[in-house]
Amino acid sequence: MSVLEKITSEDAIALEDKYGAHNYHPLPVVLNRGEGVYVWDVEGKKYYDFLSAYSAVNQGHCHPKIVGAMTEQAQTLTLTSRAFYNDMLGKYEKYVTETFGFNKLLPMNTGAEAVETALKVCRKWAYEQKGIAENEAQIIVCENNFHGRTTTIISFSNDPVARKNFGPYTAGFLKIEYDNLEVLEETLKNNSNIAGFLVEPIQGEAGVYVPKEGYLSKAKALCKKYGVLFIADEVQTGIARTGKMLAVDHENVKPDILILGKALSGGAYPVSAVLADDAVMGVIRPGNHGSTFGGNPVAAAVGMAALEVVKNENLAENAMKLGELFRDELNKFIPTSNIVNEVRGKGLLNAILINDTEESSTAWDICIALRDNGLLAKPTHGNIIRFAPPLVMNEEQLRECVSIITSTLKHFEK
Ligand SMILES: Cc1ncc(COP(=O)(O)O)c(C=O)c1O
Repeated sequence: MSVLEKITSEDAIALEDKYGAHNYHPLPVVLNRGEGVYVWDVEGKKYYDFLSAYSAVNQGHCHPKIVGAMTEQAQTLTLTSRAFYNDMLGKYEKYVTETFGFNKLLPMNTGAEAVETALKVCRKWAYEQKGIAENEAQIIVCENNFHGRTTTIISFSNDPVARKNFGPYTAGFLKIEYDNLEVLEETLKNNSNIAGFLVEPIQGEAGVYVPKEGYLSKAKALCKKYGVLFIADEVQTGIARTGKMLAVDHENVKPDILILGKALSGGAYPVSAVLADDAVMGVIRPGNHGSTFGGNPVAAAVGMAALEVVKNENLAENAMKLGELFRDELNKFIPTSNIVNEVRGKGLLNAILINDTEESSTAWDICIALRDNGLLAKPTHGNIIRFAPPLVMNEEQLRECVSIITSTLKHFEK
């Protein structure tokens, strides 16, 4: 079959079903084009994208500056591996570290790889700088976390679907309640072997749980007090999604280790990164860590262009403004509705809570109806639907989307 041959949605779904592993349960819609806030299916129907590839396409689909940088670099040099230097990586590292205020960057490709990297850096720092006895380091994580799918990361997940039958699990993690500073302090006080605290500033996959104001700054202060590293996983919340460049910026927190992915490339290419200052990143030496593709010249060109777009187009400010509008409009609708209980979120990372059980198919059915009405979104867990459009949306488009969402929801009133 030629890649240029047109196929129907039905045929595309049948092919994936037959030849692909069934590790996802996609909404039945087959896309073949994207531009800005819109995507089109193979039959030519246009949709608002209200997921943005799980917050990777913050800069909008196929942003010409990002695609331009990628194409130009792809025609010049794509991969050298880190066996040799290339002329793009250093420029990229300088640009990103200056943007976020860190000394050093370690380049990777996917979010999960970057989380793994951060865990390794944290452990090595704990043994070499903090003086924890070898193999004794513990990292505190939060209940209902989502940090990716590798064996180590699922070892500290409490999602049974992600974990079951993938053991034995990696040791060295202590799980505590999210958004609970007392438990964090208790845990820090009672264990002298804590190396770090890994946290999502907002728990995205769990259903867009926004912690209480002050949680992140107080958690950072506790980490400082007990000499452990505060590790922020901003793979989903970072790069302007929540109305600031980073979600930790809402509380003026500088993490000891920052993890970025997804929108670091605007969704054009897998680009992730771990940032830290010399006192921490200095523990990494040749041979300790790496990746054939990490830091390749295309990723470097794409990463710089993607961040430039975020800055030049004021996407953080736009996300802040449109996010408030979105929640205001839904909060006007909710008292009139018995199908939605709550809207929550920050910037353009939001979710609604559907008034039905977690096991019910209502949220899924609503997403199918939204699709039919020209808007694509997906449940996160059971009865929660996440809404995360590209940040290049304008107010008129957002108002049209609110109207699609509320009129669709009305059909599900009980
Ligand atoms: C907070 C967070 N960390 C890590 C990841 C994993 O990223 P990836 O799917 O690129 O491995 C995700 C993905 O959704 C995420 O939301």
